[in-house]
Amino acid sequence: MPIENPFEDPLRFERRVPECAIVIFGANGDLTKRKLLPALYRLAYDRRLSAGFAVAGISRTSMSDDQFRDKMKEAVQQFSDDTHFDEDVWQAFAAGLFYVAGDIADAGLYQRLAARLAEIEKARHTGGNVLFYLSTQPSQYAPAALGLGSAGLGKGNGWRRLIVEKPFGHDLESARELSDNLHQVFAEADVYRIDHYLGKETVQNILAFRFGNGIFEPLWNRRYVNHVQITAAESIGVEGRGAYYQEAGALADMIQNHLLQVMATIAMEPSASFRATSVRDERSKLLRSIRHMTPDEIRQNTVPGQYGPARIGGQDLPGFRQETGVDPQSQTDTYAAATFFVENWRWAGVPFYVRTGKRLPKRVTEIAIEFNRAPLAIFENQDGDGNVPNLLIVRIQPEEGISLKFLSKRPGAGMNLRPVSMDFNYGSSFGERSPSAYETLLLDAIIGDATLYTRQDMVEASWSVVEPIQNVWRQTKFDFPNYPVGSWGPAAADEMLARRGHVWRKP
Ligand code: BG6
Repeated sequence: MPIENPFEDPLRFERRVPECAIVIFGANGDLTKRKLLPALYRLAYDRRLSAGFAVAGISRTSMSDDQFRDKMKEAVQQFSDDTHFDEDVWQAFAAGLFYVAGDIADAGLYQRLAARLAEIEKARHTGGNVLFYLSTQPSQYAPAALGLGSAGLGKGNGWRRLIVEKPFGHDLESARELSDNLHQVFAEADVYRIDHYLGKETVQNILAFRFGNGIFEPLWNRRYVNHVQITAAESIGVEGRGAYYQEAGALADMIQNHLLQVMATIAMEPSASFRATSVRDERSKLLRSIRHMTPDEIRQNTVPGQYGPARIGGQDLPGFRQETGVDPQSQTDTYAAATFFVENWRWAGVPFYVRTGKRLPKRVTEIAIEFNRAPLAIFENQDGDGNVPNLLIVRIQPEEGISLKFLSKRPGAGMNLRPVSMDFNYGSSFGERSPSAYETLLLDAIIGDATLYTRQDMVEASWSVVEPIQNVWRQTKFDFPNYPVGSWGPAAADEMLARRGHVWRKP
């Protein structure tokens, strides 16, 4: 892997937006409609893009540029988080949208793309810079990159970068193989593996909170932190993605990437600077410090789950095995919980409980840091309610903010304590809209700032943690379904915490 030069990557706050063309493979797909085009339109609306900007969509469906523009307009109107749609901004933006039909396996596609990019460069003044975006089936990633390489599109008169959507492989070996293929055309420094959780405003704020303030970091270690809980609960099911999800499962879909990245952000050492290389080195180091569990530890410290049917509010809700495209005997995990340990001086012995699941009671993603209790309880007559540890809760979504829970004296005679909360709330503190993760990440890639992207070593480090768990789970026949739709997951996940005297929060 080529070593990045830490003196060359940009600081996150020194940012000039260059001109460029973005080529999207999978332009007719869900992600393009739901996330990519709405994000690009919004960047245009906010005047964040350079005037020399264009998008070329690629997919198999044959379509004219105008038909593509109409489709994308519909998508932007339907999926923008903002109800305001500005026709003038759209018209100016749409003039830079183009479409090339073709099959990724067909060498002719790349020749046509090369010719089209040359025209676009002249007409739109994109300076020869091209950002390729792979938003296709994962099996197409390597063929697309190699196709670009064989047509000479991996190099040019400007820069060339490649964004790759997850999943980056389905285990350690396939992740390595994918990187090897990509590296035949693009250097690692030009490969941007996207993990949209890192682009979330609240996840970025963890760095600001930890390293922009002086008062929290001294507490951020095994002497004061009792344990950490990371929860990503979803109320939705697999939403028509049954076939993909059946292969992936919750552990690979959410923990291997998003939640281990969140954990790395919470637990990493302070970086020496805010350059991409420094920040990514620390995140990577943390991922490499997570203990690889033995099969016995895996049986103790991990819990898979799968939702079963339930009747809620007079309505019959199907279980996972009843969803379209799902095997009625499926052993896929729609819930996954694990206790991780970080083997370094800061965190030795502190459990990091991580859980995620579909069809849980609500959509909420949060990190809860539970601190040790006061060493001496001098308030003897406190009621049961008062005997709780301090908690710091970072709410990633939907109500973005940070709360510190501490004990306070209840008014009146006697010393009765009660937990109260000191709250920071994004909405009320800033009163402005937060950019979507895709807006942030797309703009970063255009600028060449890889701070919030995952690097090959990080992907491999997280597969090294997750793959042994997958292996044990695959060899075990679980008694699924083991939690009903609308519950907080399997009882075994509660037992996993109870063994260490802890309980999951009910956010
Ligand atoms: C995706 C997973 O990466 O993240 C989905 O494939 C999941 O299964 C989604 O629903 C969650 O993202 P968010 O931003 O809605 O929390």
